[in-house]
Amino acid sequence: MNMSETEKNVKSPRHIAIIMDGNGRWAEQHGHLRVKGHEVGAETVDRMVSVCAEIGVEVLTLYAFSSENWQRPALEVAALMRLLRHYLRRESKRLKKENIRLRAIGRLERLDPAVRKDLEKACAQTASGTGMILNLAISYGGRDELCDATAAICREVQSGKYSCDEIDDKLMTAHLDTAGLPDPDIMIRTGGEYRISNFLLWQLAYAELYFSDTLWPDFSKEELLRIINDFQQRERRFGRVVERGRP
Ligand code: IPE
Ligand code: IPE
Ligand code: MG
Repeated sequence: MNMSETEKNVKSPRHIAIIMDGNGRWAEQHGHLRVKGHEVGAETVDRMVSVCAEIGVEVLTLYAFSSENWQRPALEVAALMRLLRHYLRRESKRLKKENIRLRAIGRLERLDPAVRKDLEKACAQTASGTGMILNLAISYGGRDELCDATAAICREVQSGKYSCDEIDDKLMTAHLDTAGLPDPDIMIRTGGEYRISNFLLWQLAYAELYFSDTLWPDFSKEELLRIINDFQQRERRFGRVVERGRP
């Protein structure tokens, strides 16, 4: 990919999280079955992974399949799982070549063993990557994650590892699926809906939120760079007051 010097020099956010929404509507608008939208959406994933890696993003988290998406028709779930396997098999070599490390968050134990195996294999194959982390949220729900973290902490309190008084932000963060990753700086949702849909409920506390009407299969590098550029103009106060100097 040819990137201009300006693009290369963009000071990028550390962590971008994306709710990739709108595949089904894209397919309907183009007279296709929903699955076709997911297929074309997978091509957008390829493009976004490359752009983010090139501009120096440390972590790209993609919401690929939510805990609620299990309630979709069995045929659609099967198609999504098939696409995920294709993606992992097709892309793990490229990810490795681009020094990208794959990671996954979510209740992975719910996945079909064959899907899980491909996922584990792709993670292992890219484990030595020192560049961007591509973090896939699969069978993921923020509430599940918070319940699992709470249960793990309860067990450790019961075992006497620490007391309830020691439970704080840092301890919770360390028990989440995203342990070790910085919080997202930017959360983008495509597809025109203004909601979080159970995504990274804890981690998005101070993320800058962007909602785009573009359907995921149409989401472009240019739009992503526009969002990043806007992010750089935003003032993040984290609850504090910014001193502006007196006139
Ligand atoms: C997002 O696209 C992909 C997944 C949820 C897996 P949708 O399938 O939700 O597309 P729309 O929202 O119906 O258009
Ligand atoms: C969120 O999209 C989940 C993913 C993109 C994987 P949905 O389409 O499932 O969310 P809702 O149903 O519009 O809230
Ligand atoms: Mg949707």
